Formats: sequence, C-alpha cells, structure tokens
Amino acid sequence: MFEILRKEKLAPGINLFEIKAERIAKKAKPGQFVILRLHERGERIPLTIADTNPEKGTVTIVAQEVGKTTHELGTYNVGDFILDFLGPLGKPSHIDRFGTVVMIGGGVGVAEIYPVAKAMKEAGNYVISILGFRTKELVFWEDKLKQVSDEVIVTTNDGSYGMKGFTTHALQKLIDEGRKIDLVHAVGPTIMMKFVAELTKPYGIKTVASLNPIMVDGTGMCGACRVTVGGEIKFACVDGPEFDAHQVNWDELMKRLDYYKDLEKISFEKWKR
Ligand code: FAD
Ligand code: FES
Repeated sequence: MFEILRKEKLAPGINLFEIKAERIAKKAKPGQFVILRLHERGERIPLTIADTNPEKGTVTIVAQEVGKTTHELGTYNVGDFILDFLGPLGKPSHIDRFGTVVMIGGGVGVAEIYPVAKAMKEAGNYVISILGFRTKELVFWEDKLKQVSDEVIVTTNDGSYGMKGFTTHALQKLIDEGRKIDLVHAVGPTIMMKFVAELTKPYGIKTVASLNPIMVDGTGMCGACRVTVGGEIKFACVDGPEFDAHQVNWDELMKRLDYYKDLEKISFEKWKR
C-alpha cells in the first residue's frame, strides 16, 4: 500500500500527489512512468513520474481528471492509500548535450516535461520551455519550469495569459526568428504532438514525443499499447514511451485511443452514480 503524503490542486481538474514509494524514488529516471491501481476493483492506469525525492522516498505524479479512474483518484486525500504503484516503467529519456533543446508541454504534459527539462539543463543544454494551456486559470508550474529552463514561453489558446495561440505557434516563431534548435521534446495531447512533428519535419529538427496509448500491464505482455513507428510495431510501455516523432503513425494512434470511448463513458457514468 502506498500512502499519499501531499495533495495539491494545481488547476481545475489537475491534482498533484506526492506518494511514499521509496524504491521507485531511488530508481526512477526522467521520462519513466508508473502504473497504479487504486483498489482491488480498480483499473490500471499509467502516469508519468513528474518528480522524485529519493531522500524522503517520495514520487510525485500529476493527474488530469478525464475519466473514471482519474476522477476517483481526485477524491483521494492525504493519508489515503493506493493499492498498487508499479514502476519505474518504460525507457528513460535520452539525455545528452544536444545544444539548444525546446521542451514542449501541453496541459498536464507540462508536469511530464519537468524532469526531462531539468536533466537536459543539468547536461549543459540551453533549454527553452514552451508551456501550452487552454486558458489562464489552467496555467501551472510556470515558476517550476523557469528554475530548469533558460527561457519559458507560456501560450494560451484564448490569449488570456502569455502568447495567444498554440505551442506550435510559439515554436514556429522561434524557427522564423532563426533560432538554432537541436532537439524538440514534446509531451501533451496526441494531436499537439502530431502537429509539432509535422512542423519540425521539413526543417529537419530532431523531435521526440512521449506517446500515451492505452496501457494495461505496462510490461510488454498484453500488446494494448502497440504503436507503429517507422513502419514497425512497437510496444510503447517497453520500447518507449518516447519515440522519434517523425516516424510515428499518429493517425493510427489517435484511432486506437478512441476504440474504448463508449465503454469508458459507461464506466464513468456508473461510477458517478
Ligand atoms: P477513461 O475514461 O478510462 O479514459 C479517458 C481517455 O484516457 C481514453 O480515451 C484514453 O485516451 C485514455 N486512457 C484510458 N485508459 C488508459 C490507460 N490504461 N492507459 C493510457 N491511456 C488511457 N495522464 C495524466 O493526467 N498525467 C500523466 O502524467 C500521464 N502520464 C501518462 C504516461 C503514459 C506513459 C501514458 C500511456 C499515459 C499517461 N497519461 C497521463 C494518461 C492517463 O493514463 C489517462 O488519462 C488515464 O489512463 C485515463 O483513465 P480514466 O479511467 O480516468 O479515463
Ligand atoms: Fe501491455 Fe504495453 S501495456 S504490452
């Protein structure tokens, strides 16, 4: 059983949980994730390790309430226990001295880019972080990203804070200004990552994306997370979750994410009752 030591509401529908999980806290590397199950009747869901504190033995996750399990997690409080908390899973991010790295986080993806941005900065890169939100009240972790970035650009779709537009508009602006970009690393909604990949491809800018297919076991056994990358079938849980964004079959990934929409809706409605 894994105890929740801290809970913080970062924005409407987005909660941070700091969880006692000593072994994961010691082993986790940027880009890795956990699979949790709230209780015996719960489903397993993957969440990125947003931060760790090996001395305290804690792991931080940030979850956006989108369906049954993430809403149920949102009802958990300090002192509550999570039944299963498995990890660290997946391959760590490839951290190197690339030069200038642009980190792009969309919505809850902002929490997911934090450990990678931090490691990229520590490796000697010039880090530009682009944080995209729908609107001002959803903005979180701008200060935290500032601590590990040389520049931070915030975008909101409606222009209520920062630059008006999408993360891709901010990236296009950097490219148009002739900024040297050696790597783009994107985490967020699948559609955002697809458009980031389409934008950087003609410029030949190496781009990595962290994919979010449906996962079940997270250990390469069930095949639920299969994605096509460079014409080959890969299992995102063990071969990823990060892949060369220019090689990903984005349309197939988006279709697969929609497969269980009706069942997910039924399950959420039942839980609400
Ligand atoms: P549901 O109603 O069951 O599903 C809503 C949508 O979430 C689905 O349409 C589908 O697109 C997706 N989804 C559902 N079940 C799964 C599943 N088992 N695996 C993956 N996606 C699923 N979300 C965060 O808020 N924060 C994170 O840090 C984060 N990290 C992730 C890391 C990885 C490697 C992956 C694969 C996904 C990550 N996600 C993260 C997405 C998160 O797992 C889903 O939002 C969650 O599983 C939704 O479950 P639900 O029961 O609340 O919603
Ligand atoms: Fe089962 Fe990846 S989640 S193989």
